[in-house]
Amino acid sequence: MSYKDQIDLLKLPEHIAIIMDGNGRWAKEKGKLRIFGHHNGVLSVRDVVEGGVDLGVKYLTLYTFSSENWNRPKLEVMAIMELMVSTINKEIKNFMDKNVRLNAIGDLHMLPEKCYEELTNAIKTTSKNTGLVLTLALSYSSRREIVHATKSIAQQVKSGEINIEDINEDLFGRNLYTGDMPDPELLIRTSGEYRISNYLLWQIAYAELYFTKKLWPDFRKEDLFEAILDYQKRERRFGKTSEQVN
Ligand code: FPP
Repeated sequence: MSYKDQIDLLKLPEHIAIIMDGNGRWAKEKGKLRIFGHHNGVLSVRDVVEGGVDLGVKYLTLYTFSSENWNRPKLEVMAIMELMVSTINKEIKNFMDKNVRLNAIGDLHMLPEKCYEELTNAIKTTSKNTGLVLTLALSYSSRREIVHATKSIAQQVKSGEINIEDINEDLFGRNLYTGDMPDPELLIRTSGEYRISNYLLWQIAYAELYFTKKLWPDFRKEDLFEAILDYQKRERRFGKTSEQVN
């Protein structure tokens, strides 16, 4: 039986977050430039989105470019930005056909103008779609997101909109970029690295973590299904005992 056939559709994680890692190493193994890995990483993105849509996953959030990634060689940064523009352009039709709503989180104003325009245009075009919400984390840093939320809450207190007593976990969560999404239940990282790398630190408090040695350009929907199956075999206790949960 394929991984997909073994998945219990009634116990799907509603929100899956992925740290797509290993594009550079994948290209290097093949004696190619790093950007070759990023280009092939896009094929994985397409396949994984398709897998998520097939299953009925509601939210998929991809770590596409971190705030720290701006420190990479200028040529690589430019190539990734160009790749993003061309990919978004090419994928809009596919998103419309598959009822995918595109979304983005991060310091989006840091993106080159053309990239920002294409992105906001695609977000607007797909905004009425009701299927999978595909969020790209771009120029994203979880710590910065937390600072941003803190400043926003402080401002709301200062203006009298809310009282200090109103601040709780729920309110804090709603002030994050992901405020209108449920927290991810499953976080996947490829390439054999065991790190979170400043990704969704608040939101993954109770997420199940899944690490695979596969490099991102080799990751396909079958790998996503395998990760979901692994998730479904775990017991999520949220601090309770096994007996209480069962
Ligand atoms: C991590 O691999 C990958 C990135 C920083 C870029 C990810 C971008 C894409 C897959 C393009 C996606 C585009 C869209 C529109 C979704 P790495 O370069 O850190 O690999 P390494 O750890 O082997 O060096």
